[in-house]
Amino acid sequence: PGQWPGVIEAYRDRMPVQPDWTVVTLGEGGTPLLPAPRLSELTGCQVYLKVDGANPTGSFKDRGMTMAVTAALADGKSSVLCASTGNTSASAAAYATRAGMTCAVLVPTGKIALGKLAQAVAHGARILQIDGNFDDCLELARKTTADYPAIALVNSVNPTRIAGQASAAYEICDQLGRAPDVHCLPVGNAGNITAYWHGYRGYHADGVIPALPRMFGFQAAGAAPLVHGAPVSDPETIATAIRIGAPASWKGATTARDESNGKFAAVTDDEILAAYRMLSAQEGVFVEPASASSVAGLLQSHADGSLPPGSLAVCTVTGHGLKDPDTALLTAPDPEIVPIDPGAVAAALELA
Ligand code: F0G
Repeated sequence: PGQWPGVIEAYRDRMPVQPDWTVVTLGEGGTPLLPAPRLSELTGCQVYLKVDGANPTGSFKDRGMTMAVTAALADGKSSVLCASTGNTSASAAAYATRAGMTCAVLVPTGKIALGKLAQAVAHGARILQIDGNFDDCLELARKTTADYPAIALVNSVNPTRIAGQASAAYEICDQLGRAPDVHCLPVGNAGNITAYWHGYRGYHADGVIPALPRMFGFQAAGAAPLVHGAPVSDPETIATAIRIGAPASWKGATTARDESNGKFAAVTDDEILAAYRMLSAQEGVFVEPASASSVAGLLQSHADGSLPPGSLAVCTVTGHGLKDPDTALLTAPDPEIVPIDPGAVAAALELA
């Protein structure tokens, strides 16, 4: 009673579920829409962060996974499979466990952040590594599930994932009482920008919101196929979550950009890391590097004049900082050794 029920129950009339299906949920969604005072000051806009690292497995993927695994269970599938840069695999592993299904994840060699791998291991998923990148993993996952129908493919090429992820757009509109003017997102495989646009369009068509936002999608400079207008064969970035060269939802992403009068732009790894550090050191919000690309893009858009002053802007920060402890500690000083003495502790805070 009084508890957030998860995105399927919260938005049941907008979800592709039948009344007799068993809903597989971990209580995902209902995440904070947090005012960002420092970013607002820097940009002259009213900036909010949609903190989707606050989901049960620490990323926005849970919004889609509750739907995909619920549908797979109703469909009588015995196992689920996904390709992943890490977050999808962590989410699939958790929801499959909850549903009593087996899970295998296909991951690129050596490019998965440590926390994500730990989650897949903890939930008992079979971790299958191939000598290839995310795009190769996705191709293999698609072929495998085409050949073996007992296995459900739970990547965002599965339309139930998109329907679930649209819940973030509904929540933002419900939280603001309107849509933002501008919505900034990191873009990798492009399922999320497709889902947000689907969500905003649905609310707009039903008269829940009077106006639509402009969608700004940001890719890492070394993995920016949508910015270049062509696939990238060797994607590279510190933001391993979006190290993707051939986004599956290419059409959905370009539709979102074109229909919303939005844009795609590239942010460098340096810009991503600057935004990553700014968020944790100045806003108190610890995210993983890929998530900071939405904020890097906001700041870049402010600098190049493409973000109108006074805008209501939402940046989705898609994954928790704990997902990638290695990057967090990259430039960290060693802990200070202090004597067991209150004066020394106070001195460390410059109070003595
Ligand atoms: N942010 C994070 C933290 C992600 O994990 C991803 C995608 C994205 C942004 C980009 O979202 O693909 O819908 O455009 N991660 C996928 C995965 C690819 O396997 O976990 P997208």
